[in-house]
Amino acid sequence: MNAHAPAADGAASVARTAQPLIELRGISKTYGKTQVLFDIDLTIERGQHVVLFGPSGSGKSTVLRSINLLAEPDAGSLRVDGVEFGPGLPGETGKHGGRLELRRRVGMVFQQFNLFPHLSALDNVALPLRKVQRMSRQKAREKAAVTLRRVGLIDRAANYPAELSGGQQQRVAIARALALDPEVMLFDEPTSALDPELVGEVLKTMREVAETGMTMVVVTHELGFAKEIGDLNVFMEEGRIVESGPRGFYDNCTSDRAREFLRAVM
Ligand SMILES: Nc1ncnc2c1ncn2[C@@H]1O[C@H](COP(=O)(O)OP(=O)(O)OP(=O)(O)O)[C@@H](O)[C@H]1O
Ligand SMILES: [Mg+2]
Repeated sequence: MNAHAPAADGAASVARTAQPLIELRGISKTYGKTQVLFDIDLTIERGQHVVLFGPSGSGKSTVLRSINLLAEPDAGSLRVDGVEFGPGLPGETGKHGGRLELRRRVGMVFQQFNLFPHLSALDNVALPLRKVQRMSRQKAREKAAVTLRRVGLIDRAANYPAELSGGQQQRVAIARALALDPEVMLFDEPTSALDPELVGEVLKTMREVAETGMTMVVVTHELGFAKEIGDLNVFMEEGRIVESGPRGFYDNCTSDRAREFLRAVM
Protein backbone atom coordinates (compact mmCIF):
# COMPACT_ATOMS: atom_id res chain seq x y z
CA MET A 1 0.00 0.00 0.00
CA ASN A 2 1.19 3.50 -0.79
CA ALA A 3 0.98 4.73 2.77
CA HIS A 4 3.49 2.09 3.73
CA ALA A 5 5.75 2.22 0.68
CA PRO A 6 9.36 1.44 1.54
CA ALA A 7 11.19 4.43 2.92
CA ALA A 8 14.90 5.12 2.58
CA ASP A 9 15.35 3.48 5.95
CA GLY A 10 14.26 -0.09 5.20
CA ALA A 11 14.24 -1.29 8.82
CA ALA A 12 12.10 1.60 10.02
CA SER A 13 9.71 1.00 7.18
CA VAL A 14 9.34 -2.68 8.05
CA ALA A 15 8.71 -1.78 11.70
CA ARG A 16 6.06 0.72 10.66
CA THR A 17 4.28 -1.72 8.37
CA ALA A 18 4.19 -4.35 11.12
CA GLN A 19 2.72 -1.88 13.60
CA PRO A 20 -0.87 -2.80 14.52
CA LEU A 21 -3.35 0.04 14.12
CA ILE A 22 -4.72 -0.36 17.64
CA GLU A 23 -3.21 -2.06 20.68
CA LEU A 24 -4.94 -2.37 24.02
CA ARG A 25 -2.64 -3.75 26.70
CA GLY A 26 -3.74 -4.51 30.23
CA ILE A 27 -6.71 -2.16 30.09
CA SER A 28 -8.68 -2.00 33.34
CA LYS A 29 -11.66 0.15 34.19
CA THR A 30 -13.56 0.68 37.42
CA TYR A 31 -16.82 2.58 37.92
CA GLY A 32 -17.15 3.52 41.58
CA LYS A 33 -16.29 0.34 43.41
CA THR A 34 -17.10 -1.98 40.53
CA GLN A 35 -14.36 -3.14 38.25
CA VAL A 36 -15.87 -3.62 34.82
CA LEU A 37 -12.78 -4.36 32.71
CA PHE A 38 -9.92 -6.63 33.78
CA ASP A 39 -6.62 -6.61 31.97
CA ILE A 40 -7.93 -6.41 28.41
CA ASP A 41 -5.41 -7.15 25.65
CA LEU A 42 -6.54 -6.64 22.08
CA THR A 43 -4.52 -6.10 18.92
CA ILE A 44 -6.24 -4.78 15.82
CA GLU A 45 -4.50 -4.71 12.47
CA ARG A 46 -5.21 -2.24 9.70
CA GLY A 47 -8.21 -3.29 7.65
CA GLN A 48 -9.23 -5.92 10.18
CA HIS A 49 -12.92 -6.38 11.06
CA VAL A 50 -13.30 -7.25 14.72
CA VAL A 51 -16.54 -8.49 16.29
CA LEU A 52 -17.07 -8.20 20.06
CA PHE A 53 -19.84 -10.29 21.57
CA GLY A 54 -20.95 -11.53 24.95
CA PRO A 55 -23.67 -11.14 27.58
CA SER A 56 -25.17 -7.84 28.69
CA GLY A 57 -22.87 -6.06 31.13
CA SER A 58 -19.78 -8.03 30.06
CA GLY A 59 -17.96 -4.83 29.10
CA LYS A 60 -18.27 -4.75 25.30
CA SER A 61 -19.30 -1.09 25.13
CA THR A 62 -16.66 -0.16 27.67
CA VAL A 63 -13.95 -1.77 25.54
CA LEU A 64 -15.27 0.07 22.49
CA ARG A 65 -15.41 3.34 24.40
CA SER A 66 -11.89 2.81 25.68
CA ILE A 67 -10.66 2.93 22.09
CA ASN A 68 -11.77 6.56 21.71
CA LEU A 69 -11.46 7.40 25.42
CA LEU A 70 -15.19 8.02 25.86
CA ALA A 71 -14.39 5.71 28.80
CA GLU A 72 -10.97 6.49 30.25
CA PRO A 73 -9.10 3.35 31.32
CA ASP A 74 -7.66 3.42 34.85
CA ALA A 75 -4.67 1.37 33.86
CA GLY A 76 -3.06 -0.11 30.78
CA SER A 77 -1.98 1.17 27.45
CA LEU A 78 -3.96 2.29 24.39
CA ARG A 79 -1.82 2.79 21.32
CA VAL A 80 -3.00 3.88 17.91
CA ASP A 81 -0.36 3.59 15.23
CA GLY A 82 2.25 3.23 17.96
CA VAL A 83 1.29 6.46 19.73
CA GLU A 84 0.11 6.15 23.32
CA PHE A 85 -3.29 7.75 24.00
CA GLY A 86 -4.25 6.01 27.26
CA PRO A 87 -2.73 6.05 30.72
CA GLY A 88 0.36 4.15 29.52
CA LEU A 89 3.80 5.57 28.94
CA PRO A 90 4.66 6.87 25.48
CA GLY A 91 6.21 4.09 23.39
CA GLU A 92 9.06 4.21 20.89
CA THR A 93 7.53 7.31 19.36
CA GLY A 94 8.15 9.17 22.62
CA LYS A 95 4.85 10.96 21.99
CA HIS A 96 1.61 10.97 23.96
CA GLY A 97 -1.40 11.74 21.79
CA GLY A 98 -4.27 14.03 22.79
CA ARG A 99 -7.91 13.13 23.04
CA LEU A 100 -8.98 15.40 20.20
CA GLU A 101 -6.48 13.84 17.83
CA LEU A 102 -7.77 10.41 18.84
CA ARG A 103 -11.41 11.36 18.25
CA ARG A 104 -10.50 12.65 14.81
CA ARG A 105 -9.00 9.28 13.95
CA VAL A 106 -11.68 7.06 15.48
CA GLY A 107 -15.29 7.25 14.28
CA MET A 108 -18.15 5.83 16.32
CA VAL A 109 -21.73 4.76 15.61
CA PHE A 110 -24.09 4.20 18.53
CA GLN A 111 -27.19 2.08 19.03
CA GLN A 112 -29.26 5.25 19.44
CA PHE A 113 -28.26 7.20 16.38
CA ASN A 114 -27.70 10.46 18.32
CA LEU A 115 -28.55 12.76 15.41
CA PHE A 116 -29.41 16.40 16.06
CA PRO A 117 -33.21 16.57 15.62
CA HIS A 118 -33.16 20.21 14.54
CA LEU A 119 -30.70 19.64 11.68
CA SER A 120 -31.33 18.09 8.27
CA ALA A 121 -29.55 14.87 7.34
CA LEU A 122 -27.09 16.93 5.30
CA ASP A 123 -26.35 19.31 8.16
CA ASN A 124 -25.98 16.45 10.65
CA VAL A 125 -23.17 15.15 8.47
CA ALA A 126 -21.75 18.58 7.67
CA LEU A 127 -21.61 19.90 11.23
CA PRO A 128 -18.67 17.82 12.49
CA LEU A 129 -16.78 18.61 9.29
CA ARG A 130 -17.06 22.29 10.16
CA LYS A 131 -16.35 21.83 13.88
CA VAL A 132 -13.68 19.14 13.78
CA GLN A 133 -12.07 19.70 10.41
CA ARG A 134 -12.80 23.43 10.30
CA MET A 135 -14.15 23.21 6.76
CA SER A 136 -16.05 26.12 5.27
CA ARG A 137 -19.84 25.76 5.24
CA GLN A 138 -19.77 25.23 1.49
CA LYS A 139 -17.03 22.58 1.51
CA ALA A 140 -18.62 20.78 4.46
CA ARG A 141 -21.96 20.58 2.71
CA GLU A 142 -20.30 19.31 -0.46
CA LYS A 143 -18.48 16.55 1.42
CA ALA A 144 -21.63 15.71 3.39
CA ALA A 145 -23.52 15.31 0.12
CA VAL A 146 -20.85 12.99 -1.30
CA THR A 147 -20.97 10.89 1.86
CA LEU A 148 -24.78 10.74 1.96
CA ARG A 149 -24.67 9.56 -1.62
CA ARG A 150 -22.28 6.83 -0.55
CA VAL A 151 -24.80 5.49 1.99
CA GLY A 152 -27.63 5.82 -0.55
CA LEU A 153 -29.38 8.76 1.10
CA ILE A 154 -28.66 11.74 -1.10
CA ASP A 155 -32.37 12.03 -1.90
CA ARG A 156 -33.04 12.43 1.85
CA ALA A 157 -30.43 15.14 2.42
CA ALA A 158 -32.98 17.82 3.25
CA ASN A 159 -35.05 15.66 5.61
CA TYR A 160 -34.91 15.98 9.38
CA PRO A 161 -34.29 12.87 11.50
CA ALA A 162 -37.96 12.63 12.49
CA GLU A 163 -38.80 12.33 8.79
CA LEU A 164 -36.47 9.36 8.33
CA SER A 165 -36.88 5.70 9.25
CA GLY A 166 -34.64 4.29 11.97
CA GLY A 167 -32.55 2.54 9.34
CA GLN A 168 -32.12 5.74 7.39
CA GLN A 169 -31.21 7.64 10.57
CA GLN A 170 -28.55 5.08 11.37
CA ARG A 171 -27.15 5.37 7.85
CA VAL A 172 -26.96 9.14 8.32
CA ALA A 173 -25.08 8.49 11.57
CA ILE A 174 -22.69 6.19 9.69
CA ALA A 175 -22.21 8.89 7.04
CA ARG A 176 -21.52 11.45 9.75
CA ALA A 177 -18.69 9.31 11.11
CA LEU A 178 -17.36 8.32 7.67
CA ALA A 179 -17.24 11.90 6.41
CA LEU A 180 -14.42 12.63 8.85
CA ASP A 181 -12.24 10.00 7.12
CA PRO A 182 -11.53 8.02 10.29
CA GLU A 183 -8.89 5.29 10.38
CA VAL A 184 -11.17 3.00 12.33
CA MET A 185 -14.93 2.85 12.84
CA LEU A 186 -16.48 1.58 16.07
CA PHE A 187 -20.07 0.29 15.95
CA ASP A 188 -21.91 -0.36 19.23
CA GLU A 189 -24.95 -2.54 18.47
CA PRO A 190 -25.86 -0.37 15.48
CA THR A 191 -28.95 -2.39 14.59
CA SER A 192 -30.31 -3.20 18.05
CA ALA A 193 -32.72 -0.27 18.17
CA LEU A 194 -34.17 -1.02 14.75
CA ASP A 195 -37.32 -2.81 13.70
CA PRO A 196 -36.29 -6.14 12.17
CA GLU A 197 -37.17 -5.12 8.63
CA LEU A 198 -34.74 -2.16 8.85
CA VAL A 199 -31.71 -4.13 10.05
CA GLY A 200 -30.74 -5.32 6.56
CA GLU A 201 -30.18 -1.89 5.05
CA VAL A 202 -27.85 -0.86 7.88
CA LEU A 203 -25.89 -4.11 7.64
CA LYS A 204 -25.64 -3.55 3.90
CA THR A 205 -24.14 -0.11 4.49
CA MET A 206 -21.71 -1.56 7.05
CA ARG A 207 -20.75 -4.29 4.60
CA GLU A 208 -19.99 -1.65 1.99
CA VAL A 209 -17.83 0.24 4.49
CA ALA A 210 -16.02 -3.01 5.33
CA GLU A 211 -15.39 -3.64 1.65
CA THR A 212 -13.47 -0.36 1.37
CA GLY A 213 -10.89 -1.86 3.73
CA MET A 214 -11.91 0.28 6.69
CA THR A 215 -10.75 -1.07 10.04
CA MET A 216 -13.90 -1.83 12.05
CA VAL A 217 -14.74 -2.93 15.58
CA VAL A 218 -18.36 -4.04 15.86
CA VAL A 219 -20.45 -5.07 18.86
CA THR A 220 -23.34 -7.05 17.46
CA HIS A 221 -25.75 -9.87 18.16
CA GLU A 222 -26.30 -10.45 14.45
CA LEU A 223 -24.64 -13.83 14.15
CA GLY A 224 -24.90 -14.06 10.36
CA PHE A 225 -23.26 -10.69 9.93
CA ALA A 226 -20.61 -11.49 12.56
CA LYS A 227 -19.72 -14.70 10.74
CA GLU A 228 -19.54 -12.84 7.48
CA ILE A 229 -17.29 -9.94 8.46
CA GLY A 230 -15.45 -11.13 11.59
CA ASP A 231 -11.74 -11.52 10.85
CA LEU A 232 -11.22 -11.52 14.61
CA ASN A 233 -14.04 -12.51 16.97
CA VAL A 234 -13.85 -11.78 20.66
CA PHE A 235 -16.11 -13.28 23.32
CA MET A 236 -16.31 -11.31 26.58
CA GLU A 237 -17.78 -12.16 29.94
CA GLU A 238 -17.64 -10.30 33.25
CA GLY A 239 -15.11 -7.76 32.06
CA ARG A 240 -12.69 -10.25 30.56
CA ILE A 241 -11.89 -11.63 27.14
CA VAL A 242 -12.71 -15.31 27.53
CA GLU A 243 -11.84 -16.47 24.05
CA SER A 244 -11.13 -15.04 20.64
CA GLY A 245 -10.49 -16.46 17.24
CA PRO A 246 -10.34 -15.92 13.48
CA ARG A 247 -12.90 -16.58 10.79
CA GLY A 248 -14.84 -19.76 11.55
CA PHE A 249 -14.73 -18.99 15.27
CA TYR A 250 -18.48 -19.28 15.79
CA ASP A 251 -18.45 -22.91 14.75
CA ASN A 252 -15.15 -23.75 16.42
CA CYS A 253 -14.98 -21.92 19.74
CA THR A 254 -13.92 -24.15 22.60
CA SER A 255 -15.01 -22.46 25.83
CA ASP A 256 -18.28 -23.75 27.24
CA ARG A 257 -19.42 -20.22 28.01
CA ALA A 258 -18.96 -18.93 24.48
CA ARG A 259 -20.74 -21.96 23.02
CA GLU A 260 -23.56 -21.67 25.51
CA PHE A 261 -23.94 -17.96 24.77
CA LEU A 262 -23.97 -18.54 21.03
CA ARG A 263 -26.60 -21.23 21.38
CA ALA A 264 -28.80 -19.10 23.59
CA VAL A 265 -28.53 -15.63 22.15
CA MET A 266 -27.08 -15.26 18.72
N1 LIG B 1 -20.93 5.15 33.01
C1 LIG B 1 -21.04 4.07 33.81
N2 LIG B 1 -21.14 4.21 35.15
C2 LIG B 1 -21.21 3.15 35.96
N3 LIG B 1 -21.22 1.88 35.54
C3 LIG B 1 -21.14 1.67 34.21
C4 LIG B 1 -21.05 2.75 33.30
N4 LIG B 1 -20.97 2.23 32.05
C5 LIG B 1 -21.02 0.90 32.19
N5 LIG B 1 -21.11 0.55 33.48
C6 LIG B 1 -21.15 -0.83 34.01
O1 LIG B 1 -20.04 -1.52 33.45
C7 LIG B 1 -20.39 -2.86 33.14
C8 LIG B 1 -20.09 -3.12 31.70
O2 LIG B 1 -20.96 -2.33 30.93
P1 LIG B 1 -20.95 -2.27 29.34
O3 LIG B 1 -21.92 -1.25 28.96
O4 LIG B 1 -19.56 -2.12 28.85
O5 LIG B 1 -21.47 -3.74 29.00
P2 LIG B 1 -22.00 -4.31 27.61
O6 LIG B 1 -21.32 -5.62 27.42
O7 LIG B 1 -21.83 -3.30 26.54
O8 LIG B 1 -23.52 -4.57 27.92
P3 LIG B 1 -24.82 -4.46 26.94
O9 LIG B 1 -24.81 -5.71 26.09
O10 LIG B 1 -25.98 -4.44 27.88
O11 LIG B 1 -24.68 -3.21 26.13
C9 LIG B 1 -21.86 -3.02 33.52
O12 LIG B 1 -21.93 -3.61 34.78
C10 LIG B 1 -22.37 -1.61 33.55
O13 LIG B 1 -23.42 -1.48 34.48
MG1 LIG C 1 -23.16 -2.27 25.37
